[in-house]
Amino acid sequence: MVKICCIGAGYVGGPTMAVIALKCPSIEVAVVDISNPRITAWNSDQLPIYEPGLDDVVKQCRGKNLFFSTDVEKHVAEADIVFVSVNTPTKSQGLGAGKAADLTYWESAARMIADVSKSAKIVVEKSTVPVKTAEAIEKILTHNSKGIEFQILSNPEFLAEGTAIPDLFNPDRVLIGGRETPEGLKAVQALKEVYAHWVPEEQIICTNLWSAELSKLAANAFLAQRISSVNAMSALCEATGADVSHVSHAVGKDTRIGPKFLNASVGFGGSCFQKDILNLVYICECNGLPEVANYWKQVIKINDYQKSRFVNRVVSSMFNTVSGKKIGILGFAFKKDTGDTRETPAIDVCRGLLVDRAQLSIYDPQVSQDQIQKDLTMVKFDWEHPVILKPVSPTALKQVTFVWDAYEASKDAHGICILTEWDEFKTLDFQRIYDNMQKPAFVFDGRNVVDPKKLQQIGFIVYSIGKPLDQWLKDMPAVV
Ligand code: NAI
Repeated sequence: MVKICCIGAGYVGGPTMAVIALKCPSIEVAVVDISNPRITAWNSDQLPIYEPGLDDVVKQCRGKNLFFSTDVEKHVAEADIVFVSVNTPTKSQGLGAGKAADLTYWESAARMIADVSKSAKIVVEKSTVPVKTAEAIEKILTHNSKGIEFQILSNPEFLAEGTAIPDLFNPDRVLIGGRETPEGLKAVQALKEVYAHWVPEEQIICTNLWSAELSKLAANAFLAQRISSVNAMSALCEATGADVSHVSHAVGKDTRIGPKFLNASVGFGGSCFQKDILNLVYICECNGLPEVANYWKQVIKINDYQKSRFVNRVVSSMFNTVSGKKIGILGFAFKKDTGDTRETPAIDVCRGLLVDRAQLSIYDPQVSQDQIQKDLTMVKFDWEHPVILKPVSPTALKQVTFVWDAYEASKDAHGICILTEWDEFKTLDFQRIYDNMQKPAFVFDGRNVVDPKKLQQIGFIVYSIGKPLDQWLKDMPAVV
């Protein structure tokens, strides 16, 4: 029986390994992590991450050929294939701070693999890493390995949070990069055979290591660029009276462009897009390519611009002050169907409104009060000028309440900001919400989930990203 061990039981390691275990009953899969609470949660009925369909997959194989454990060394020592799916955040201090990937977790995992291994292993980079990381990993492994043979593969993950299970069941492609030596090709083949249990062969792409590593950064950069492109258009739409949804539709009908990922919003979030683009920017700078670096930087600048112009729009519409006014925040996760709040635009929007002394009442169906408090008070880094941004102070946190219902969040509020596109927000009883709000009542839709015309008929003043502006908003121009 082939044994797989995955180091890192996070958003990627957990679901990916659960699907491998489900699709390959002949393979034993152990997912290990240094975090005790995470492993305890994976072994309980309350999994540590929310992902539609995940519970079902885990229940089918946990205890059979899928195991979650903190005994990292034992499982690594026993494995034939070791996936490394640890976090690779942006460095917050030292050389490359604010841009470069922090490979501390990766390096310590690699050193541990070298320490505990007694047999040959295939080590798979599942985490998103800078191009050429495999070379560094190889050095760590071979210099510490007591003659054991390691083959390094790059197998970046393309799943999207919120749709991780369908993405893993039916991936657009699986990418495997390896050394172009007989041993390297053999290792690529071994990993290909794992995926071939359920992925059609023509969808498994095999390349060299560097192409695979760079393809993941490139894919995320392209995806984020689409969002920033449509968001840039949304600002122009508001200025000219065009409707961004019409523009997206017309543009997306071009088969060379395609319709997906063209929704304007308050901005992209999630743990990957910004981090991976900054990483790409850093690599370009290190390789003497400042023009290329600046090109990709602009994608993040537009994202920052989109969040700050949303805050400016809220404040300027409400007579240029939100001080002491209650604002209901509907949604905090970075997108629907996940409880993940890493880099969610809601953090920047809430911080911006708190600076203007708003009273926030926050509701998200999947994010806990504890998590939101942590996010608002967390030290944030300004990627462009490596300085620490002032977190929300404990005193300012008194301006925030947490509720478990959208109606409660909007009760007596002056305005509502929709920051996550949860399906339940589409079917809210807006008449009821309007009746219980202060007047004039505002809706600022950062995800274009409501029909502005219907809400205007009820009496709301509505701001929808990239849509023709309400007369009220035209009369209260924002500094954008
Ligand atoms: P995560 O933060 O949810 O999980 C990483 C886990 O690794 C944590 O539970 C941590 O305790 C554990 N860990 C760190 N060092 C360890 C060590 N030495 N030994 C054992 N466990 C260790 O991160 P996530 O979101 O799963 O991301 C992992 C990688 O996958 C990152 O490089 C990310 O860029 C990439 N990725 C993430 C995607 C996403 O949607 N979240 C999608 C595709 C790639």
